[in-house]
Amino acid sequence: MKLPIALQSSELGKVTMAPLPESYAIEPMHDSYGRRINYLRISLTDACNLRCVYCMPEDMTFRPRQELMTDEELLFLVRVGASLGVNKIRLTGGEPTIRPHLVDLVREIAAVPGIKDLAMTTNAILLDKLAQPLADAGLRRVNISIDTLDGDKFHKITRWGNIDDVWRGIRAAERAGMTPIKLNCVVVRNFNEEDMIDLARLTLENDWDVRFIEMMPFGEISDFQQTNVVTFREMRERVESAFGPLEEAGYDFVDPSRPFRIPGAMGTLGFISSVTEPFCQGCGRVRLTADGKLRLCLLRDNEVDLLSPLRQGATFEEMRSLMLDGAFHKPWGHSLSEGTFAENRAMNQLGG
Ligand code: 5AD
Ligand code: SF4
Repeated sequence: MKLPIALQSSELGKVTMAPLPESYAIEPMHDSYGRRINYLRISLTDACNLRCVYCMPEDMTFRPRQELMTDEELLFLVRVGASLGVNKIRLTGGEPTIRPHLVDLVREIAAVPGIKDLAMTTNAILLDKLAQPLADAGLRRVNISIDTLDGDKFHKITRWGNIDDVWRGIRAAERAGMTPIKLNCVVVRNFNEEDMIDLARLTLENDWDVRFIEMMPFGEISDFQQTNVVTFREMRERVESAFGPLEEAGYDFVDPSRPFRIPGAMGTLGFISSVTEPFCQGCGRVRLTADGKLRLCLLRDNEVDLLSPLRQGATFEEMRSLMLDGAFHKPWGHSLSEGTFAENRAMNQLGG
């Protein structure tokens, strides 16, 4: 991508960020297919306090601190996004709760004009203490990853996790009013297929949204992921064999999760079929990686570097054109069905 002229000079060493405008007009951005881009998912860190087997190796190494966006840089880019019609933000990781000063950062993001919805995807290990301060700071909802209700198995899948911490986190999120609580379960063959039943049963008496996710292939461990994916159809059959036919609960073609309900249940069951039945037509999402790249599709390698120009002193207007132009080039969708998948990053750098 062509950089604004000012940035093509080799003016290295200039690391002061351009000043922020006092206010800005909001002009919605679209991609070349006419999809409105209004949802930004921001990875706050690639590091994590767990080591889920389908996500990363146990001896994982992470990016050095100086390669990651500082709070100030991140807030600058959030404002750029907001000026282009981003009104919905989700914080992801790695594990977002291990980012230093998270509560202050959330407060500042929530206060950016135009941001209406701020949510987070977390493993909930640290949520017991953080839920209330985060809610007070403006975090509206959390999606919590939990792949089984069996403590031993949970430990086996996450390598380091204690499921009691997750339960404390879920309860704390509920107490803090971050509802509806969504629980995300990646279904992995020979690991947790049969655990779907206990997870689905939770919706009978809780107003929760339990979502089953097809495992997506990424880079180095894509062989494992491809071999062990459990399809939407298989997942649905398994749940229906235990609870009978599910009722449809209003698919909006925007949310990747297709909602169903066990008849009479308080909560809902969702299925996220990224692999077998993609939902690209309704996708208004772009991602910001922890090292400041605008990632246009979770499952494709296309990215636009925003952090380097920002560090080289690009103005607010110049950053706006970079983001606008990047979003315009968002690819239509992924091609997992043709066997092509993203190679340059793993899930811990993308946050789902
Ligand atoms: N496929 C699908 N979901 C994944 N997650 C991590 N790796 C994968 C994968 N390969 C999930 C986590 C968490 C969210 C951030 O992404 O379980 O819920
Ligand atoms: Fe951490 Fe989430 Fe990856 Fe598990 S899936 S290791 S919780 S980033």
